[in-house]
Amino acid sequence: MKVYDYVIIGTGIAGLNAARLIPKDKRVLILCKMSTWNCNTFWAQGGIASAVDESDIPLHIKDTLEAGVNYNDLEAVELLSKKSISTIKNLIDSGMKFDLNEDGKLAYTKEAAHSRNRILHADGDATGRMMHIFLLENCTHEIVTQAVVCDLLIKDDICYGVQYFTSETQQKVAYAHNTIIASGGVGSIYRYHTNSTANAGEVQGIIAEKKLPLKDMEMMQFHPTVVRGTSFARKPLLSEALRGEGAYIVDENGYRFLFDYHKDGELAPRDVVSRSIFDYNKKTSLGVYLSFETFEKNAFRKRFPNIYANLKELGYDLPFERVPISPAFHYSMGGVETTLDAKVKGMKNLYAIGEVACTGVHGANRLASNSLLEGLVFSQIAVEKSLEENFKIDFKEYDKPIIDYIRNKEIDKDLKDSLREIMWTYASIVRELKTLEESLKTIEEYLKKDVGRLLYLRLLTAKSILTAALNRKKSLGAHYIKED
Ligand code: SIN
Repeated sequence: MKVYDYVIIGTGIAGLNAARLIPKDKRVLILCKMSTWNCNTFWAQGGIASAVDESDIPLHIKDTLEAGVNYNDLEAVELLSKKSISTIKNLIDSGMKFDLNEDGKLAYTKEAAHSRNRILHADGDATGRMMHIFLLENCTHEIVTQAVVCDLLIKDDICYGVQYFTSETQQKVAYAHNTIIASGGVGSIYRYHTNSTANAGEVQGIIAEKKLPLKDMEMMQFHPTVVRGTSFARKPLLSEALRGEGAYIVDENGYRFLFDYHKDGELAPRDVVSRSIFDYNKKTSLGVYLSFETFEKNAFRKRFPNIYANLKELGYDLPFERVPISPAFHYSMGGVETTLDAKVKGMKNLYAIGEVACTGVHGANRLASNSLLEGLVFSQIAVEKSLEENFKIDFKEYDKPIIDYIRNKEIDKDLKDSLREIMWTYASIVRELKTLEESLKTIEEYLKKDVGRLLYLRLLTAKSILTAALNRKKSLGAHYIKED
């Protein structure tokens, strides 16, 4: 039996940063569901938040709590902000290049609900991609692509390995002393989203199946500005940094209606902006647009080169033309409940980091650009803790037969589409208890059908979102219940 010191599930920022920090002499296997670039980190545009200096820490904490409607875990938020400066420094010292201003100093931009400029960016508006490339280039451990995790091997409070599909029919097991889950969020179980297609929440389903804790699964974030009218499920994002630097939202008559909803207009917290767009469009049937007219042409194209190029491909000439927008699913604040050590609550050697985890830092609405930071900070914590504990399993006790799963079945395709439609329509920006209840019943019916393993796990995840949403009867942050 081949045993690893670590198995890491996922090659986004959290998984790759964990891999970077694990010493080279450890045996590490990194499982990547599709190809390495197919993760949410790769698509992240705006940037990575960090306290600018020590004096900014209290303000960064305050902004994070205010955006999160004070539902955040204060200790986790403090940890995030206090570690942000050294985490970014470590990354820069290791070779990561963020954009600099004309004085050669780090250039910080602003995004909604931040009280000052504190977002670092790279290649203008391709921060996630540049960080991803940097982390991949610095990864010395083995990565296996097209490895789709279908089970965690768990006995009591110990995880002793991971089972995964290597093809439609083949399965393998990787045994490990430590397992780090960094598999990302649930975007692909929603009809319209900004996420990688790899993020379909299967690991959250495994956690639910094992009766391990999931927390705040009702807290799902919808980004206000994606390009409306494209045929892709993954909607092209228009970064919040655009609004931070002057773009604004109008209806088709040019009216900036967001100030009717919140004093900060376009720069109100993300949940407020998404909900206001949804409500305004429903009430007036007017189309909603992002306007870039405050930008000078060359400055815009230099600052946002990738958005400019992507939108050009879609037929828009920025900054001259307005772009039709709507909100779409963006980020899971809820996930696998972890301790401040990044361990899955109740487990000895199982860690969860990045979007899959619920550390409590985001509360009921994540502050823009805190997610890449969370991935870096908590991956470092997980690695430090696991190295300190040096947990070892005696594998003689754990050599057990595994269940032979069937990955996909004929019936799955229609049910997958139906699942996405249900989640988008009923577990979305505005929810109603009655339709949440009906949706939960439908998902429970689907769970009784003879479906493939992957769909089964997604359905369990959907069930946990709907159940959590039903259990929270009153609106809070991103979880908005329409009153009768
Ligand atoms: C964006 O660029 O608008 C996304 C930033 C984030 O989700 O934090």
